[in-house]
Amino acid sequence: MKVVRKTLSILAAPFVCGLFALGGTQVWAEGDPDVDPALAPLPMPIPAPPDNPITEAKVELGKILFFDPKLTGDASLSCGDCHDPKQGWGFNDPISRGYPGTVHWRNSQTVVNGAYLSKFFWQGNVGSLEKQAPTANKGAVAGNGENDVMESRLRQTPYYVEKFKEVWGTEKPILHHAWMAIAAFERGALTQVDSPLDRYLNGDKSALSEKAVKGKELFEGKANCIECHNGPTLSDEKYYNLGVPRPVEWEESGINTITYRWENYAKGVHEKMYRDWKDDAGLYYSSKRKQDIGKFRTQPLRYIKYTPPYMHAGQFFTLEEVIDFYNEGGGENEFTDGTHGFKNKTPILKPLNLTDEEKEALVVFLEEISGEEIKMAVPEVPKIEVMPDVPGLTQAQAKRIGLEMYLSNLAEN
Ligand code: HEC
Ligand code: HEC
Repeated sequence: MKVVRKTLSILAAPFVCGLFALGGTQVWAEGDPDVDPALAPLPMPIPAPPDNPITEAKVELGKILFFDPKLTGDASLSCGDCHDPKQGWGFNDPISRGYPGTVHWRNSQTVVNGAYLSKFFWQGNVGSLEKQAPTANKGAVAGNGENDVMESRLRQTPYYVEKFKEVWGTEKPILHHAWMAIAAFERGALTQVDSPLDRYLNGDKSALSEKAVKGKELFEGKANCIECHNGPTLSDEKYYNLGVPRPVEWEESGINTITYRWENYAKGVHEKMYRDWKDDAGLYYSSKRKQDIGKFRTQPLRYIKYTPPYMHAGQFFTLEEVIDFYNEGGGENEFTDGTHGFKNKTPILKPLNLTDEEKEALVVFLEEISGEEIKMAVPEVPKIEVMPDVPGLTQAQAKRIGLEMYLSNLAEN
């Protein structure tokens, strides 16, 4: 891939220079000469895998599960606590809250429009919403749940026994079906149908203000955002190191450092890296290739107004700060400045020389395309109840039920 790009950039250089030389009104930013798909409306109907179609009953069940803390270790935290409807369906601290007693190490992303992604997380390391949900609720610094305990809680909740039977036809809830229902909820209820950007791209030229249209032109031209933020989600789902600075939390706060250290250990880096690195190596943890150190998935931008702060550890608080960062041609971190003997910064970012007016137009564009906020009241979650004795319970099953009652008492008191 890299080789191909190099060859292409040699071929493309005179072409790009040629356009500058022509001095036309169109400003062409020089970037990565791959093909950049145009911005596009979200395709309808909402895509879903064939084995998990979106149905009304499933979306309703998934909604309750999304807000139900029974699906975490100590039954105190739900998806909705880190993906709060009032915080852009994310969490507005730079670094997300974690499982009680921990903090996370990355910024919590919005779950809005996830139906259209094929790579999830900043590291892009999970391939579907069905696979993402258990990763979240089992991960040590997120949900920290254990399969049998979480499943037992569902089985001890009469509401779930009834609803799982209705949706999946099983006598008892099966945990795997919970993740599928949550995925259906995310697709069915948290997709922005008909946003101003969709309306504009579908031909309604009044859907965006004049200033936003100017911002769109810059986005696709002089500011060259389109190079990476393209297609229907405004993400090419590729990976880049932009030189986003290291989060200050890892120097200032012990609890953050613990998570950072632990993540490195758990994801497997060799001892020298464990001791020397002070920053998030991103894609490297999945690929273990040196050229991927410090790269992150291009973040989709559709719901952006509601999801500050920005970048993988919330390094920037406002969109203005983000635009300033790009205007300067990105930044530096220890994986781009040669500290460890290599420089991984993407060559695509260059100083943009944007005027104040142009910067403002970009911000207005990003704000307007964010569209209406998806509001939702947090539903009440169903109660665990004491189930009648079942003859023939194994000791393990009986133990689980005992733990269940203990935890539900804790939750009530
Ligand atoms: C303790 C907080 C926490 C909990 C609980 C949590 N998440 Fe997350 N979520 C995060 C953080 C932080 C990220 C980014 C993590 C990363 O990239 O490493 C994330 C990322 C995601 C993403 C990826 C979005 C994208 O653009 O790729 C989805 C989808 C998601 N979470 C859904 C869920 C669901 C569904 C649940 C419940 C089953 C859940 N999360 C529970 C904090 C949490
Ligand atoms: C070289 C590819 C590339 C280009 C060009 C690019 N971006 Fe990004 N963008 C990314 C990546 C990768 C991330 C995530 C980086 C991270 O967190 O380390 C990102 C993150 C963002 C975020 C933060 C999103 C969030 O949810 O936190 C915003 C906003 C953004 N870009 C806007 C822009 C704008 C506006 C432009 C044009 C001025 C632009 N980008 C140009 C790749 C790019």
